[in-house]
Amino acid sequence: MRESIGVIGLGYIGLPLSMCLCERGFRVVGIDTDPDKVRRIEAGETDVQEDYRGETLQQRLQRHLAAGNFIVSSRTAVAAWEATTYLVTVGVPVHPETKALCDEPLRMAMENIGRVLKPHDVVVIRSTVVPGTVESRYVPILEETSRMVAGVDFHVAYAAERVAEGRAMEEFQTLDIVVGGLTEKCAALAAQTLQKLTDGQIHITDLRIAQLSKVIENAQRDVNLAMVQELQAVAKAHQVNLFELIQMVNTHPRVQMLLPSVGVGGYCIPNAYHYLSASLDDTTGADLPLFRTARETNEGAPQRIARDVAQSLADRGRSMKEAVVVVLGLGMKDGSNDIRQSPAIACAKAFQSLGAVVRAYDPTVAPLLPYQVSNVEDCLRGADAIVVGAWQPAFDHLDWGRLFGLVNPTAPVILVDPRGRLEARVLHLPHTTILQRA
Ligand SMILES: NC(=O)c1ccc[n+]([C@@H]2O[C@H](COP(=O)([O-])OP(=O)(O)OC[C@H]3O[C@@H](n4cnc5c(N)ncnc54)[C@H](O)[C@@H]3O)[C@@H](O)[C@H]2O)c1
Repeated sequence: MRESIGVIGLGYIGLPLSMCLCERGFRVVGIDTDPDKVRRIEAGETDVQEDYRGETLQQRLQRHLAAGNFIVSSRTAVAAWEATTYLVTVGVPVHPETKALCDEPLRMAMENIGRVLKPHDVVVIRSTVVPGTVESRYVPILEETSRMVAGVDFHVAYAAERVAEGRAMEEFQTLDIVVGGLTEKCAALAAQTLQKLTDGQIHITDLRIAQLSKVIENAQRDVNLAMVQELQAVAKAHQVNLFELIQMVNTHPRVQMLLPSVGVGGYCIPNAYHYLSASLDDTTGADLPLFRTARETNEGAPQRIARDVAQSLADRGRSMKEAVVVVLGLGMKDGSNDIRQSPAIACAKAFQSLGAVVRAYDPTVAPLLPYQVSNVEDCLRGADAIVVGAWQPAFDHLDWGRLFGLVNPTAPVILVDPRGRLEARVLHLPHTTILQRA
């Protein structure tokens, strides 16, 4: 008989994880408290883009629903009928403005699991959390609601999810996983299940180290990306292309700088500093000036871009207030339709706050923003500046020669294109003289 597993939370991580588990031979009961999401998933629909080996996530979902490998419900009790292991992928959102952490969804998930938990069950938290809270906040909820003792009657482990959106299906099965258990047995039981998911190595460690290591992985990338942001000014001063500069720097085998962008978005990297600092109370004496500065630098990138473009316009006697600024791609990174904490959207807002007319085009993002235009021609018509917020695969197939004929012909177009993708496609055009980096 097939092993059954409960996946709690069916978002960008939980749904592809469920599909992957189905493919590795599990029967999966997926639980999500959002009734609309449950309804759509049950009907075989999802917007999550995780194409893998010629199949979209939606096609996989339909296949596994039809085969009875995957069932979905809003009630955790449904998972408890057959599953003895729960993988929890419910997040701890950080408020975009106040930076307040909200762990209500994860606490609720723990309560719901606790109510239906059976002796010997295993709960593996895969969400990114404030380090230390598994033992201080979530285990007590499980114990209180189940009236059992963690580490004795049931088992709890932490094993953060490390995949990148867009590559999830492959990375679930290949990345190493760091596991920390409340007890050695908790860790060993979690490792046993997770080893059926990944061909990578399972590293068993202390529960606190497992929680800290996830947050530090992301914070390290935040610092690296902040260095890249700072180097924008260096590259400009030396009149060199930053993208090419970094490619050269990275030819050193012990250097790995990340690539330039209009800012740092998504659910992982921007939140890391906030989780880490929330784990340190005032009595520890620990301060994080480097991580804090990195966060501020990355968060300030869209405003810096808008100011630089305003300056470029002013140098030509033009005002932002009479400019049309186009943002191409609104995802939080290249190839993504996830707009959570998207720097491209922050750019659009920064330009609006300086008085520009902003238009944006992204064929993968649902048209919910007032400045979104569904047609790329209408978007580019009369543009004074173009910001490549995120490069979408569909952009590869556009006729940029024809499209560049639509921009404002009376003045040079300012191009903000950190990875040079658009630039590479328009440099050969007869009117490239209108092209100018911000
Ligand atoms: N998105 C990424 O690229 C990524 C990568 C690595 C790790 N992570 C981590 O994985 C976790 C999930 O991220 P995500 O991007 O999938 O988030 P998400 O917001 O897309 O998904 C979370 C899902 O949980 C559901 N939910 C909320 N409360 C619930 C409850 N009490 N019970 C059941 N379901 C509930 C929500 O409706 C939502 O569908 C986060 O901790 C995140 O930091 C994310």
